[in-house]
Amino acid sequence: MKSLIRRIPKAELHLHIEGTLEPELMMKLAQRNGIEIPYTSVDEIRHAYDFSDLQSFLDIYYAGAQVLIEEQDFYDLTWGYLERAATDNVRHVEIFFDPQTHTARSIDFCTVINGICSALQDGESRLGITFELIMCFLRHLSAADAMATLEEALPHKNRIRAVGLDSSEVGHPPAKFAEVFDRARDEGFLTVAHAGEEGPPEYIWEALDLLKVERIDHGVRSLEDPALVERLAKDQTPLTVCPLSNIKLGVFKSLQEHNLKKLLDAGLCVTINSDDPAYFGGYIGENFLQTQQALNLSADDIHALAKNAFTASFLSDEDKKRHIAEIDQIMS
Ligand code: HPA
Ligand code: ZN
Repeated sequence: MKSLIRRIPKAELHLHIEGTLEPELMMKLAQRNGIEIPYTSVDEIRHAYDFSDLQSFLDIYYAGAQVLIEEQDFYDLTWGYLERAATDNVRHVEIFFDPQTHTARSIDFCTVINGICSALQDGESRLGITFELIMCFLRHLSAADAMATLEEALPHKNRIRAVGLDSSEVGHPPAKFAEVFDRARDEGFLTVAHAGEEGPPEYIWEALDLLKVERIDHGVRSLEDPALVERLAKDQTPLTVCPLSNIKLGVFKSLQEHNLKKLLDAGLCVTINSDDPAYFGGYIGENFLQTQQALNLSADDIHALAKNAFTASFLSDEDKKRHIAEIDQIMS
């Protein structure tokens, strides 16, 4: 099973590029840019990663991102992730970036997107990993701030496939961003949103009905609402589930108690992703492996999860077919 999980072609659809900032790179960039961080060693940074909930993680995650200043920093961050992803046999990535985390510190939008995109292009040519970019709005900030960010992104429209919604969920329902997402869809962006990670099933309904999302990021709380499960199953709206993230942030007490297998058995299009791997202790391969072991997933489950990721991606039907045929061949 271990070698099968390593070899199976993967698509990663829920990955915050700022969440791939490993402690080693954080220290290096802090020194390179003369930024003070409240840690003196890599070990000390790792020790600080003891989270009780989403907010306790976000506080440390936003603080860590302060070391990202130059275009080269965003390049190094993204390239580091892609090299790591290649070892897990990741073939396609749809990554989130949070421009507001950087523009609020007077880092230019172009600096951020140029660094990320150059690395993604090198990843495609040198590692064979295709990509899409998803711009997330920070939901703890105002809708007006999100709208201004959308305006700022318009000149880069050809490099951003979709918009998403992340950060502190409870108290910031999708409805708050209905107008921003209407505008984004009018401009041709696809939409996704984090919903039902800590927030209630109502937030998932809002993401579907008001934001008209293609996928729900997380969505694990959908299981509390049978009518919602029926809707998600009927439409085959994908859920980008992040098992190790859910454990680190206390959404489930242990991986054995995670509801991923129940979601799969309910007929939902479930995918496995790493969310913020530098903070949550595992990249996509490790998420597959630990979840398989904890929930005793079968080879058929792994097969379905791997196929779902390509089905749920923004790839063309032709590319999806090609990747899925390769997965079917490995599993046969
Ligand atoms: N949830 C919300 N916001 C985030 C996350 C997450 O899991 N990761 C990075 N920003
Ligand atoms: Zn996330």
